[in-house]
Amino acid sequence: MPVKEAATHAFWLAGRQATGEETFDVASPWDGRHVGTVSVPTEAQVEEAVAAATAVADEFAATPAHVRAAALDHICRRVTERADEIAELITAENGKPLRWARGEVGRCISVFRWAAEEARRFNGGTVQRLDSDAGGQGRLGLTRRFPRGPVLGIAPFNFPLNLCAHKVAPAIAVGTPIILKPAPATPLSGLLIGELLAETDLPAGSWSVLPVPNDRMPALVQDERLPVISFTGSGPVGWSLVDAVPRKHLTLELGGQGAALVLSDYSSDADLDHAAQRIAMFSNYQGGQSCISVQRVIADTSVYDRLVPRVVAAVEAQVTGDPTDPATEVGPQISEDAAKRIESWVEEAVTAGAKLLTGGKRDGASYAPTVLEDVPRDTQIGCEEVFGPVLTLTRVDGEREAYEAANDSIYGLQAGVFTHDVQTAFRAHRALEVGGVIIGDVPSYRADQMPYGGAKQSGVGREGVQYAMDDYTYERVMVLTGLEL
Ligand code: SIN
Repeated sequence: MPVKEAATHAFWLAGRQATGEETFDVASPWDGRHVGTVSVPTEAQVEEAVAAATAVADEFAATPAHVRAAALDHICRRVTERADEIAELITAENGKPLRWARGEVGRCISVFRWAAEEARRFNGGTVQRLDSDAGGQGRLGLTRRFPRGPVLGIAPFNFPLNLCAHKVAPAIAVGTPIILKPAPATPLSGLLIGELLAETDLPAGSWSVLPVPNDRMPALVQDERLPVISFTGSGPVGWSLVDAVPRKHLTLELGGQGAALVLSDYSSDADLDHAAQRIAMFSNYQGGQSCISVQRVIADTSVYDRLVPRVVAAVEAQVTGDPTDPATEVGPQISEDAAKRIESWVEEAVTAGAKLLTGGKRDGASYAPTVLEDVPRDTQIGCEEVFGPVLTLTRVDGEREAYEAANDSIYGLQAGVFTHDVQTAFRAHRALEVGGVIIGDVPSYRADQMPYGGAKQSGVGREGVQYAMDDYTYERVMVLTGLEL
């Protein structure tokens, strides 16, 4: 797949291209092919970007909505025009099969489109009823939202384009500067967003894309000129940010142990075929490297024995291999180390008594779609996020046991519930300790405008364009006095 290779990819410092003194290489997780060389900003350049973001904050906040919306519309248009090339870039640096990379590009277009629309809509309100006490007579309250201050956005490797978009687009929509740090394994998609931002008239300093190495991040995290951090990534890193800067405003999108519940009323052959297909596809999409992929299948005893062979067959039917082949459904993990970790977790579970129904094999950075039954709760797979193409099967008796099993996790990001019954849907919505309940489908459904985030150790705060805009800003009331109302 011919991804056009720049000699060295510059980074974006306060809206302009710059290079530092060092570089690092990006390689394809599939075949180790060299995908690009990326320039690393020096400490002085990082300082320059932060100073520029601070200096432009007031000016950017005062930029008219139509200017910010036009910039967001421009990026939406340009991603659309360059969609094929961008999908190939995602596949090259991340190893995600082309079909899923194309889906990610489509979602990125949606994020920028929504951000442009929300920028035009973002509005304040009034508090008209202040005269409920005598002291409030003749007064009127107006509310508007103002940026908390420049944002440090830290993005993960698993959606290298769209999770950068989720940091950047809401920042532009509310007029707050952002410094984006893409993941070291997949910096090229984030840098490409920089390329498109550079085509707009946004003020210099309002955005930077800096591939800062992880070991230099603590200084940036501590910098008080960046009072907001929006982080997507692993739990240990996310929670260490809370410990490091407890007074900053943090949004953390961390792990999950996505559960798909198949309840007793979802019992016809067509129902079970459908549930099995969806479960197989979404435990393996992106090689399982999504916080809302299906890791746990919790099925009612009345449907369990008919569901399991269907799930195993559907998992075995997943097309694995070269991610550039449009037919491929499951590509490699992000690295051989990641695949080895999954391998060791599966081995641990099997040694502890789990039954391996299919898969369990590693080939370099690729790990075969795997199904396990009877996984002990105290194994890594039993209690942690596997972040790989592995699903576990659990039999339960009745709805209450299903919710208890789903909630028996330190995580609470999203859950899927296969049921046709609307009352059951409402009960599930009430009972499940997660940020999102998807009825009639897997937990992996995400529309980019809906609130997205976790309960328990899955994080704090919400993404989803409008929700991130709220998160990047705070409400300030103004009271007018002495009015004849
Ligand atoms: C994530 O892995 O948290 C992101 C999932 C998504 O955007 O679909």
